[in-house]
Amino acid sequence: MKRSEINRRMREALELCRRYQFLLPPFAKWTPSDWRLKGLECAGIIRQQIGWDITDFGGGDFTSVGLILFTIRNGIFADVEKDPLLARSYAEKMLIVAERQVTPTHFHYFKTEDIINRGGGVLVIQLWNSTEDEKCANDDVEVLCDGVAVQREAGGTIELHPGESVTLPRLLYHKFWGKEGCGSVLVGEVSRVCDEYRDNRFLEPVGRFATIDEDEEPLHLLFNDYADYYPEYDRALSG
Ligand SMILES: [Fe+2]
Repeated sequence: MKRSEINRRMREALELCRRYQFLLPPFAKWTPSDWRLKGLECAGIIRQQIGWDITDFGGGDFTSVGLILFTIRNGIFADVEKDPLLARSYAEKMLIVAERQVTPTHFHYFKTEDIINRGGGVLVIQLWNSTEDEKCANDDVEVLCDGVAVQREAGGTIELHPGESVTLPRLLYHKFWGKEGCGSVLVGEVSRVCDEYRDNRFLEPVGRFATIDEDEEPLHLLFNDYADYYPEYDRALSG
């Protein structure tokens, strides 16, 4: 993706957040210059992998296959492995899903996640159980939609309207997009701790992050940009 497109998508995301009164924490608006002045007090942002995350899943066609995320809070995966009772074991994200914009089929090895329609259009989610060799199973799927058990055939879909949510257990394959004609969806995610580098299993070989063409300065950093703009990055990571 061109950096200018990422910047444009961030501006659109901030506008949608304003429209639905879903306001992001202060570091969402820090600039590269702000980051260059930050010290070890920001180590938590690095270690928790929180912040902007805009991806075309490596395919170069963000409108068709892509996602805007902002990780608002997160634990640290290694800390949870070490001491599950003491460590912060939860995460929260904001996602923006445009009409017909697909997030490819994937499951999470560890993370159970609640996906919540916070406003806007209709989110369509397609579901499959997974087999032991990590393929899609043929058997029926059961999920909880706001506490109510809902069954679908393998590959069946559910629709989330504003205010509605679903609980997606670990190892359940899911693919989602915004329903055509209904507008972009502001999505919330409440989940177990999240590690973007280790916990995602995509059914088809896709990338998790975009390759970026730096045609202009970043407006705000993606979480995988921190290393390039934050002088204390390595010390923060090892802290
Ligand atoms: Fe997911």
